[in-house]
Amino acid sequence: MPKILLLNGPNLHLLGQREPHLYAKRTLADIENELSALAKEAGHSLGCYQSDAEHELLHRIHGSGEDGTDLILFNPAAFTHTSVALRDGLLAIGIPFIEIHMSNPATREPFRQQSFFADIALGVIAGFGPHSYRLAMQAAIEHLADTAG
Ligand code: DQA
Repeated sequence: MPKILLLNGPNLHLLGQREPHLYAKRTLADIENELSALAKEAGHSLGCYQSDAEHELLHRIHGSGEDGTDLILFNPAAFTHTSVALRDGLLAIGIPFIEIHMSNPATREPFRQQSFFADIALGVIAGFGPHSYRLAMQAAIEHLADTAG
């Protein structure tokens, strides 16, 4: 059974309360439940992990290199614009990942214009609020079907 990991970076446990004009009103638990249902329907398993700490996200990335994870859905949040360490971790394990953002960083402050992940991701889905996660899951399911051996 293909295994997907949904990884969320700092402050994303505050979804639902945090800047709702940008990030909508759905909680992270709502999103995780929706994605788990979609994964199950497609015959995949979904693990979910959120942390505010770069080293914990990095450990989870390292763990996915050992536990048979096939694909990672990743919203690195603020670490998108700062983290060489997480980029290097993803390069080290070599598992394909999709970068997700609820907002569209391209329309926001200049410091959000740089992503340390976009050029090594399978693709980036941004700007669709909580739907970005669902669209990324659909892309993941299609990618796994295309590459199934
Ligand atoms: C975000 C965009 C980032 O710039 C920001 O730091 C976040 C959330 C998004 O989902 O739109 O925390 O990744």
